[in-house]
Amino acid sequence: MVKKSKKYLIEAKKIILNSNMILSKNPDMILPNLWPGYFKKSFKSYVISLDGKKFLDMTCLVGQNTLGYGNKELSSHLKSIIDDGNMTSLNCPEEVELSKFLLKIHKWANVVKYTRSGGEANALAVRIARCFNDKDNIAICGYHGWHDWYLAANISNKENLKSHLFNNIQTKGVPKKLQDTIFQFDYGNIESLKKIYKEKNIGIVKMEVCRNNLPNIKFLKQVRKFTKEKNIVLIFDECTTGFRHNFGGIHLITGVNPDIAIFGKAIGNGHAINAIIGKKKFMNAAKNSFISSTFWSERIGFAAAVKTLKIMKSVKHWKTLIKNGNYLRKNIKEIFVKNEIDLVINEFPTIISLSLKKHNDLFRSFLTKEMLKKNILATNLIYVNIFHNKANSDKYLKNLDNILKKFKKLKKKNYSWIGKNFYISRVKD
Ligand SMILES: Cc1ncc(COP(=O)(O)O)c(C=O)c1O
Repeated sequence: MVKKSKKYLIEAKKIILNSNMILSKNPDMILPNLWPGYFKKSFKSYVISLDGKKFLDMTCLVGQNTLGYGNKELSSHLKSIIDDGNMTSLNCPEEVELSKFLLKIHKWANVVKYTRSGGEANALAVRIARCFNDKDNIAICGYHGWHDWYLAANISNKENLKSHLFNNIQTKGVPKKLQDTIFQFDYGNIESLKKIYKEKNIGIVKMEVCRNNLPNIKFLKQVRKFTKEKNIVLIFDECTTGFRHNFGGIHLITGVNPDIAIFGKAIGNGHAINAIIGKKKFMNAAKNSFISSTFWSERIGFAAAVKTLKIMKSVKHWKTLIKNGNYLRKNIKEIFVKNEIDLVINEFPTIISLSLKKHNDLFRSFLTKEMLKKNILATNLIYVNIFHNKANSDKYLKNLDNILKKFKKLKKKNYSWIGKNFYISRVKD
């Protein structure tokens, strides 16, 4: 009998373009035909698949649920909001409450705007910045969503976004006229940014404050000084880094403030809401630009964000995230040393990235496949949430140890290379 989850995956392939899932967590990108695909319920750090199997989720998509799945306090609040109606001809008061909340945390900013997704928020921030200084060209460092303005970086060369996203991203459908508007610079290398400025007349710098490791404060200060001197709008994209290391943008711990910042993911604990905050003189430059969308006044996103921020503040969730992340990282490192396998691991406390110097693709597939057998959802990335406590982490770590032992004995010939990112076992087990 075909399992329900598999049936849905097969049907989805026929009628949904490329799966609706974020590309990096697309079932075919993780483990084709084996990754469970669909869920019916979730709580804390657990997911129940459509077939009723309970999985400990150690990957947690892309870190949007730092307070765990189905957070009870948040869900019961949102249920009462739904009863009162979600969208009307009038605005919901939560948008003002959220704006006041965000501006209180980020005292350098005075105006806010909202979208639903991070890519959309980035496109909007770019529009605002272009309104301010009337220059098209942008220097980027990091991942900033799927929109045309960003992918334009790859029109001239499919390797341009290699170190910011992945290699060989195609630009089919992106207007060729956008070529030579977006230029990438290297994190930590101020000269690479200065060179772009000299050659390309950029008006905007758009960057992640950090990704794999903690912020390089010296570099951020150099970027801030340079952009100020040259009248360039500086935008920090904190869709991923915001509200997981501290209460607010991670830039707050660096002492470097941008002109505009973007938050997403964690602020709604799994509900669609993104915020763009900025200094008045930059934000108000877009007053006469056509910027508008029906679902931007939808209430759930705002209500979820206000409640999420209140819960985060009261339980100081970032402290738990860091504690959980440090425990996992320390033990993961020890297990790799014990098994004499060379590990490459990042140092950002609440997002753990594992890779191997040798046979990395094989390792990734093997890890996910073996963890699935133990009812654990695990990829090479762990987005830590508050329920990745010692008990759950120990379950993962014990299995990791066993999997590494097996990996060492693995005969590569029993695996075949079936795609860009993974191997699959030829032997059915
Ligand atoms: C830094 C950053 N910016 C933008 C995005 C895009 O956000 P979304 O996937 O919500 O469109 C992401 C998502 O991974 C991100 O990490």
